[in-house]
Amino acid sequence: MATEFWRFSMAKVAFIGLGVMGYPMAGHLKVKGGHDVTVYNRTAAKAEDWAKKFGGKAAATPAEAARDADFVFVCVGNDDDLRSVTTTETGVLAGMKPGAILIDNTTASAEVARELDA
Ligand SMILES: NC(=O)c1ccc[n+]([C@@H]2O[C@H](COP(=O)([O-])OP(=O)(O)OC[C@H]3O[C@@H](n4cnc5c(N)ncnc54)[C@H](OP(=O)(O)O)[C@@H]3O)[C@@H](O)[C@H]2O)c1
Repeated sequence: MATEFWRFSMAKVAFIGLGVMGYPMAGHLKVKGGHDVTVYNRTAAKAEDWAKKFGGKAAATPAEAARDADFVFVCVGNDDDLRSVTTTETGVLAGMKPGAILIDNTTASAEVARELDA
């Protein structure tokens, strides 16, 4: 997967969840990686702050952030939080294009990983 990602000189990336981990991770993808990054955060003010700081874009829903993205990163709290930003009507799976790759960084269960795969 890592090899796949770095083959893109500039990828279109979505990042969902700008907590202690996600905020700087998304920033590195924008500033160090040079990727075109769109973020979503449940508390919108944090996403707007991120976009101002790093020069990326903020979306109103996870699905909107994921639209046209080559890679979609998620970093939220737990299994249920992960479900709420992936498999709901406004979750990333509703917006992702065929062939896009979902990369979950949440400390989540194998069970929810299987659900998302299915
Ligand atoms: N921090 C660490 O050192 C560390 C180390 C290893 C692993 N991890 C794991 O990494 C993951 C993220 O950790 P963190 O420290 O970044 O957590 P955090 O600071 O608490 O941030 C959690 C993020 O998830 C979002 N979120 C939570 N529930 C949500 C929901 N139901 N719908 C949508 N968004 C939701 C929060 O949005 P809001 O801003 O709106 O609250 C926030 O952006 C966790 O699984 C954690 O166990 C963290």
